Amino acid sequence: MVRRVLITGGAGFIGSHTCLVLLEQGHELVVLDNFDNSSPEALRRVQELAGSTQLNLVEGDVRDPSAVDQAFSAAGTVDGVIHFAGLKAVEESVSDPLHYWDVNVNGSRVLAAAMDRHGCRTLVFSSTSTAYGKPETFPLREDMPTAPVNPYAETKVAVEQMLTALCRSGSWQVACLRYFNPVGAHPSGRIGEDPMGIPNNLFPFMTQVAAGRRDRLLIFGQDYPTPDGTCIRDYLHVMDLAEAHGMALEHLWERTTPDPLTLNIGTGRGLSVLEMVRGFEQATGLTIPLEFVGRRPGDVPRSLASPEKAQTVLGWSAHRTLEEMCRDGWSWQQGNPAGYRQNP
Ligand code: UD1
Repeated sequence: MVRRVLITGGAGFIGSHTCLVLLEQGHELVVLDNFDNSSPEALRRVQELAGSTQLNLVEGDVRDPSAVDQAFSAAGTVDGVIHFAGLKAVEESVSDPLHYWDVNVNGSRVLAAAMDRHGCRTLVFSSTSTAYGKPETFPLREDMPTAPVNPYAETKVAVEQMLTALCRSGSWQVACLRYFNPVGAHPSGRIGEDPMGIPNNLFPFMTQVAAGRRDRLLIFGQDYPTPDGTCIRDYLHVMDLAEAHGMALEHLWERTTPDPLTLNIGTGRGLSVLEMVRGFEQATGLTIPLEFVGRRPGDVPRSLASPEKAQTVLGWSAHRTLEEMCRDGWSWQQGNPAGYRQNP
């Protein structure tokens, strides 16, 4: 059945891959994006890949009620919303917490209020595995307590709480997807992650080193209590994550239980920084120059999802391999050395 879906932040890394999946499923999309940290070119390529023009763009800020209203009007009747628009740089959230509360929390509040006005109460929200803080038992399960340790994670947990309260008030269907570490790109290499400036995250930094844009990868910490001393994360292919959004929406459209659905979206397999680097080298035949440096403040030694609930409830599991993550991420980097911009 063809549905109309409003996607905030649809031009971003996870958003653009999700738009592609939904267009390929035949849905009609309205994207609301202010291109603060993304490019309209991503949406052009998404439509090209999908062979579909069923994507309406409204350029605007999710905190602006009139922009959100315009997005609803552009769509006719909206059947569901996926809310990606937000900020995610931990360090920046420490130095400018008000900005994070404004964009992430106030933006979600403005969106939810508009959804209510327009009679659309089905929402998939981008949450984060950092909601668990610094846990000591693994794998992480959704019924474990949240314990955010920085303003970024606090804002995500605050939105989860706001959405829980909304669900209690009646007639909402909400899924909070707690992402682990999405990497890679669409296998075409046409869309991918395009961080502004120096990447904070391991994978895009590593692909930029591979491309010669940076001279070496700094590995933050070699003295963690892990087998090789480097931190362990649950990396998943961004296409697996994108598919989880489509499945979550389909599930919400059928669901009747009123409480919000919180789901980990990860693989359940942990990889150390060194294992990721070696995997990338194997998949691409390249060598990544490395330098070990001190720990990065705020890093946790380990993060690992229990993906069982997503499997049970949605029938979703991550099936793409580390080799696919590396190969697809590398073909995006190679084909687009300056990301969506014209010149490096
Ligand atoms: C980080 C954020 C997290 C956010 C996520 C998505 C922190 C503490 N956590 O997660 O809140 O949701 O990004 O954007 O910022 N590493 C290196 N060298 C690098 C980059 C990273 O060794 O140049 C290491 C890190 O120390 C870490 C691992 O690689 O052990 C993964 O790092 P990253 O990709 O930034 O993800 P997270 O830290 O899990």
